[in-house]
Amino acid sequence: MCGIVGYIGTRPALPILIRGLRSLEYRGYDSAGVATPGTDGLRIVKASGRLDRLIERVEQTVDDTATIGIAHTRWATHGPPTEANAHPHADCSGAVAVVHNGIIENFSELKLWLEKSGHRFVSETDTEVLAHLIEEYHENDLSASVRAALRHLRGTYGLAVMHAAHPREIVVARLGSPIVIGIGTGETLVASDPSALVGTTRNVMYLDDGEMARLDASGVQVTTLQAAPVEKALQEIQWTEKEIEKGGFAHYMLKEMHEQPETVRSALRGRLASDGGVTLGAFSDLRAALKDMRRIQIIACGSAYYASLVGAQMIERLARIPVSVDLASEYRYREPVMPSRTALLAVSQSGETADTLAALRLAKNAGLMTMGIVNAVGSTIAREVDAGIYNHAGPEIGVASTKAFVSQLSVFLVFALALGRERGLPPDEAERIAKALELLPMQIERVLRSRDQVAEWASQLSEKRHVMYLGRTLHYPIALEGALKLKEVSYLHAEGYASGEMKHGPIAMVEAGFPVVALAPHDAVFEKVKNNLEEVRARGAKTFAVTTPEGLRTLGRAADNALEIPTTHPLVQPILSVIPLQMLAYETAVAKGLDVDKPRNLAKSVTVE
Ligand code: F6R
Repeated sequence: MCGIVGYIGTRPALPILIRGLRSLEYRGYDSAGVATPGTDGLRIVKASGRLDRLIERVEQTVDDTATIGIAHTRWATHGPPTEANAHPHADCSGAVAVVHNGIIENFSELKLWLEKSGHRFVSETDTEVLAHLIEEYHENDLSASVRAALRHLRGTYGLAVMHAAHPREIVVARLGSPIVIGIGTGETLVASDPSALVGTTRNVMYLDDGEMARLDASGVQVTTLQAAPVEKALQEIQWTEKEIEKGGFAHYMLKEMHEQPETVRSALRGRLASDGGVTLGAFSDLRAALKDMRRIQIIACGSAYYASLVGAQMIERLARIPVSVDLASEYRYREPVMPSRTALLAVSQSGETADTLAALRLAKNAGLMTMGIVNAVGSTIAREVDAGIYNHAGPEIGVASTKAFVSQLSVFLVFALALGRERGLPPDEAERIAKALELLPMQIERVLRSRDQVAEWASQLSEKRHVMYLGRTLHYPIALEGALKLKEVSYLHAEGYASGEMKHGPIAMVEAGFPVVALAPHDAVFEKVKNNLEEVRARGAKTFAVTTPEGLRTLGRAADNALEIPTTHPLVQPILSVIPLQMLAYETAVAKGLDVDKPRNLAKSVTVE
């Protein structure tokens, strides 16, 4: 996945394509490529790394008079960020070029089938199957060939296709991954994001899921995937270029929080069935070894560590295997005991965190089996573990992690279900959790709509210097994460505590007006959290509770402020409860006039110790 740009018109296509790719750079990418007509078939030029490397190559090799082309920046999902895996992908004959965002879930089956019928593959990507499928079904009408190919796909796509035999058209399609078409005078463009179009035109048309379109220099014909014509209205983009970059959101952090419903879907897609059945491709090889494991040791840093503290409880509850969680920076120096039959699990968004990597290598050298939950495909940790699960959360640009954290929790739950199913977890319990996860994206959307109430809380907090976060069991790490988020972006001093610990010291800090934020869903420990809130309130604290409808009815005066979130399965609840805390950190930073996306002293990826 990442950025798509396409152009067909009368002007040289290359400068327009490159400008489009430049405007998509902010989304993150690790390789890029472009396809234009060549003297014999299509000419595809690709480069791993920065866009400048592609531009150098393009300048040396490409005929810059071409007036049609498609281009892509890739953020690796299947296969590392090599040149061979960069888009566009071609068929065997070199006549077809495809750029694609999304995930083709059944690509392994399709690849096997295509290889049997003689197609030769050169990349590890899921996208390449599409180029070969179009070759397989190619006939005079390019749209019909693409349509026939798409019938075989399971998964999501936003894509653009060129064909040497159809040099004056581009075919695009959308299912789950955005496609926007730009209409100029005597020229037509396509992109995955309107920011790539505004340099050329502000008149756009958005494809909906299940639609495709044929573009030529004079315009566009939109149809359904079943070839029924669709009438679409043109819209004018009103946003400024800065707003467009962030999808209309004021900050990347806000944009990424709003991407979380999709983040959850991407973490589950192709892995969890409604009946609770789990398919985790990367783990099938390790199934026997995992059965033999007596213990799991997790290592991670920062937010990934807090996600792991929740994950450990999910695994212990569902699979009844003992799990320990260590900060990677501690684990590597504390001379840990590493008994055999322990599986080590490294959790990292970037896959490059120096301490997590060092701790992983330590465990590997000691002979432990290693696994990973990693977002960045092809990153060092992803390459060095014996097996891993990718988050598929897409690039996270905001320095404060939001969607990667929610993705880590979702993946942990799927992993815990997979282990649980192997170890006697009743199928009906697995099914209940799967059903709850299916509803989760919609529930996150609901919570995201509480912005006004959260902003009101933030206006109260922004006047304070210290904030305490409380939670128990699964919500204790969520309290830690909430406090970390607030520290990172608002620079307020915040501490997360297990609420049962209050009387062991921290309650001494509470005085009149001291803010305490409690995670208080109506679960097995609700009454205890409510008592803890009453205790701090009796000492003058100003209390804020994130709670569920039943909790709201019974909290009474324990909460000066209460925010309601939907009730879900107890193991899914923390994934929902963290959302208001992310929003609270964001709104507090905004209320204080701080630069949310560039918090002081922080880097997105901590590649040094
Ligand atoms: C917090 C945050 C950091 C990271 C930590 C680990 O918002 O982003 O605490 O979670 O640096 O990074 P990864 O997951 O890349 O190993």
